[in-house]
Amino acid sequence: MGRVEVTNMTKTRVLSRALLQNLVAFVLGSEHQDLAGTLAITFIDEEHMRDVKRRFFQEDTVGDVVSFFYGEDPDGVWGEILVCVPRALEQSREQGVPFAEELMFLVVHGLLHLLGYDDDTEERRRLMMERAEELLAAYRKAEVRKRLVEQALRAREFAYAPYSRFRVGAALLSRDGRIFTGCNVENASFGVTMCAERVALGRAVAEGAREFVAIAVVSDSESFCFPCGLCRQALAEFGLDIEVLAGARDGRFVVQRLRELLPSTFSLQGV
Ligand code: THU
Repeated sequence: MGRVEVTNMTKTRVLSRALLQNLVAFVLGSEHQDLAGTLAITFIDEEHMRDVKRRFFQEDTVGDVVSFFYGEDPDGVWGEILVCVPRALEQSREQGVPFAEELMFLVVHGLLHLLGYDDDTEERRRLMMERAEELLAAYRKAEVRKRLVEQALRAREFAYAPYSRFRVGAALLSRDGRIFTGCNVENASFGVTMCAERVALGRAVAEGAREFVAIAVVSDSESFCFPCGLCRQALAEFGLDIEVLAGARDGRFVVQRLRELLPSTFSLQGV
């Protein structure tokens, strides 16, 4: 994986270098591209953009983003993306989207140009816009999942498991964006033990949440930790569409819907 160099980051204030690096890596991975060398992203003002447009495109306009492809170069820069910060701010206000979203969109748009996408016809423009939106949505989803697994790993630290020494952490994401964590709470009377998932679920319901998007589960194990049968049934009470992220202690995870983990689910109505 190549490097990403970001210049004039302070102009944007709303994005971090790490976020841009993650975003670029995500897009390159999704597009199955692995270019040797450095990608340079620079945030510029209107004057600079006007100058670039004049010199390289013979246009007297202020664009929002331009990019240049130089070709693979393990020791140098293979591509450059220039984002005009004031234009991005204007567009974010016009379209009513957060400034950070607009900046990310422009970086992805510029990057897609470097990967061979073009917007020189109406049709190609539509396809390119759609691809950028699709990539950003997938990136956001991947970030949310990563965060959920991280929260589960953190919750695991509170596990009370003196009998099994098997610590479990869970993080439950509700539709409204709240995250509820849980850990296993064991008892000298073993059957009284509560699993991490049901602790998280109980906390969520007690706070008024009843619609859930995803739950992450992790243990100390190197392998993926899936919810036990009892917890699958407890979660099923609130819908079978919830995504179960079965995580390992290093943060890797696999995703399955509860529907797949608990087929032919019990219901009072029967099937
Ligand atoms: N445990 C959970 O917290 N979640 C599960 O889905 C399976 C098991 C806990 C219960 C007990 O404290 C320990 O793991 C060993 O069974």
